Amino acid sequence: MTGKPRRIEANLEYLRKLFIMPDSPDKFIEFGNELLEMIHDFFQEKGGIHSAITLPELSRIFDRTSVPEGPHLIKDVLGEIKSKVIDHSVKVGSPHYIGHMTSAIPYFMILLEMIIAALNQNQVKIETAKASSFVERELIAWMHRLVFCRTDRFYEKNIQNPRVALGNVTSDGTLANFTAFLVAREKAFPPDGDFPGLRVAGVGRALRHYGYTRGVVLVSARGHYSIRKAANLLGLGEENVITVPVDGQNRMDIKKLERRVRRLQEGRDGERSKIIAVVGIAGTTETGNIDDLEAVGGIAAEAGAHFHVDACWGGSALLVEEYRHLFRGIERADSVSIDAHKLLYCPMSMGVVLFRNERDLNTIRHSSRYIIRRNSVDTGRFTVEGSRPFASLKPWAALKIIGREGYGLLFRHAKETTDAFREMLETCGNFEILNHPELFILNYRFIPAEVRDRLGAWLDERAGAKERNRARELEGRIKKVNTIVNALNVKLHKALRTDDTTFVSRTTLESTRYRPQSIVVLRAVLINPLTDRTALDTVMATQNRLGLELWPEFRTAYVRMAGSEGGEA
Ligand SMILES: Cc1ncc(COP(=O)(O)O)c(C=O)c1O
Repeated sequence: MTGKPRRIEANLEYLRKLFIMPDSPDKFIEFGNELLEMIHDFFQEKGGIHSAITLPELSRIFDRTSVPEGPHLIKDVLGEIKSKVIDHSVKVGSPHYIGHMTSAIPYFMILLEMIIAALNQNQVKIETAKASSFVERELIAWMHRLVFCRTDRFYEKNIQNPRVALGNVTSDGTLANFTAFLVAREKAFPPDGDFPGLRVAGVGRALRHYGYTRGVVLVSARGHYSIRKAANLLGLGEENVITVPVDGQNRMDIKKLERRVRRLQEGRDGERSKIIAVVGIAGTTETGNIDDLEAVGGIAAEAGAHFHVDACWGGSALLVEEYRHLFRGIERADSVSIDAHKLLYCPMSMGVVLFRNERDLNTIRHSSRYIIRRNSVDTGRFTVEGSRPFASLKPWAALKIIGREGYGLLFRHAKETTDAFREMLETCGNFEILNHPELFILNYRFIPAEVRDRLGAWLDERAGAKERNRARELEGRIKKVNTIVNALNVKLHKALRTDDTTFVSRTTLESTRYRPQSIVVLRAVLINPLTDRTALDTVMATQNRLGLELWPEFRTAYVRMAGSEGGEA
């Protein structure tokens, strides 16, 4: 149904009925069926990934500046949702949509969302969340065990022990990371004599009491921006998130980390810095790589800093034996964050943050007189968030329905898809692969074969060049060609959006073989179990076709620049 929803007379009897489950299931099922049909249609529909509607057109559809006065029929509003919202939503579940971590979800998740809404539990307190509080704690214990592998006795004692919390379920990875840094900050500036601890006294007094001028967090250049947000919110300051360069595999450069820590400890930058946390990344957002967690953890321990592992992207791979070696050292972390809406294939959104020490969350424990009383068993005593949905039902059920073996098969498919796409791009010739992912994210760019070969030859020659002038000249040429190819890939990415039959994302990396020059790369996240070779073929063919169509626009600049050394571009 389309058109404007019909306004009806405001009437309390009608409104009260909206809150009561009908005696006969017919009415409920009638709307339910309509809704399920709408959802089903959305998945069946062919056509563009983003819908053809423009953003200005959308802003004209949603331009009502005041709240509706009267009630409207549910049926009409559902129709409006269909024509205005569903029809113009992004088909993130499409096998041709391989641009972001947001991907296809199993259909049973939609039904679980209905249960969550129907029960409407509020996880903040036991008075509004009975069995669901226990489900959440069980899920947290499962995830904790995957990461920290503590003893049977430890889990038996703590799984449902209301005096401690092994972790928190959060809205997302950003809040999971935030919670980890909040705890790290409290632990860095604990109560001491008449100093009541940072949470009471604030950052300024805490620094003065302990004789520091700032608190810092160290993370690699691939760190997610949520870490800077946390530093901002925690009053540490974004500039005090210190980024350590990465190696050619996009992993934190351990030597540089060691040097940075030493510099900080010796106060060589004129500051007295407290290292609050060192962060390892287990699945970098842009490139899908995992830091050497053993080494990063060792340095954090020596520095007396909290060791946090941001495993929002990759942490769920711990479910599968063949991936566990990549995470060696994660069990030494003080805290680990993992997103369920990434590799657990849950819908938006849910994160978890886990603490090795079951008492760590007590540093941020709070209470109130009307709920989360001091001696209550309420989950909300340990969380940053207040009211929270029963989101944990989704991963809890998914881990049963799919199981560790099932996730193993899904990740194997993701790995095979990543390898297959790499091979296809390499075979085509007009693409260059620019990363070596461990976890399903491929960075590459469109570059006509002859330009790619020319750049390769220049790179080789530069590496062996004896004359400094020749090396410098080659360096200049490489830079200029890359600048042209960067512009080409930005334009190609825009053309892909217009074409709208396939989708990959785009980022800029300083860590490719052209380092330190920043290179524009296309980014494919290859986790959708429905993405097969045929879909990959379409994605690649579209990019190749559009790239070749755009190339003449850039070729003149390339030929002018490369001159006689440009070859037959
Ligand atoms: C490594 C990493 N950390 C943190 C986050 C933030 O997660 P969210 O978007 O759930 O807040 C992301 C998101 O992509 C991520 O990849």
